[in-house]
Amino acid sequence: MILETPRLILRPFRDHDIGRLAELMANRDFMRFSLGPYTREQTETVLQKFLSRNHAGLPSQFAVVLRENNHLLGYCAFLHHHELPEEIEIGYRLDPAYWNRGLITEAARAVRDYAFVGLKLPRVISLIHPENIPSRRVAEKIGMTPEKEITFRGFPTTVFALSREKWQAASGAG
Ligand SMILES: CC(C)(COP(=O)(O)OP(=O)(O)OC[C@H]1O[C@@H](n2cnc3c(N)ncnc32)[C@H](O)[C@@H]1OP(=O)(O)O)[C@@H](O)C(=O)NCCC(=O)NCCS
Repeated sequence: MILETPRLILRPFRDHDIGRLAELMANRDFMRFSLGPYTREQTETVLQKFLSRNHAGLPSQFAVVLRENNHLLGYCAFLHHHELPEEIEIGYRLDPAYWNRGLITEAARAVRDYAFVGLKLPRVISLIHPENIPSRRVAEKIGMTPEKEITFRGFPTTVFALSREKWQAASGAG
């Protein structure tokens, strides 16, 4: 599945994305509010997970590519966590050189619409550290609202959520 927005192409990851993805995941800011920078080996594990989910036909992981120069800038992905078996998360990370231009909001809107229209999911969530203001803003801008506070993998976490019904009511979409 490929999604297109005015400035971005959201496409599945490929094997040869490893070099650029490893560069991004080695960056402390790209990895903010996570476990810290990844080694190339750790990134290879992440990429293999993305590729195997794609091959299994599970909700896609989208590589975020800037149309104007074809550069891979990050990801906007459906994530599944065994701790929350009923839920699908929309997670995102972007090259810090491109922050605050509305790019991830643009990507996440397209991924959200695909979740409801293409995949017919009943709801989507985002798991966000309470102090992660930019990520909270993205969640709010795509219509999510804070639902509850949990501890997820040892970190304080706000569960942002959007149901299909609420999205339909807000967008007028059928
Ligand atoms: C979260 C992230 C993907 C956002 O990407 P982005 O393309 O910069 O997001 P957008 O430009 O669409 O929106 C960012 C919003 O946060 C706001 N923001 C950024 N820093 C802020 C700050 N310090 N205080 C208040 N608002 C801030 C921006 O102004 C913008 O909101 P606005 O449109 O209302 O002005 C990016 O910051 C990132 O990769 N962070 C590190 C990884 C991460 O935290 N991922 C999420 C894990 S849950």
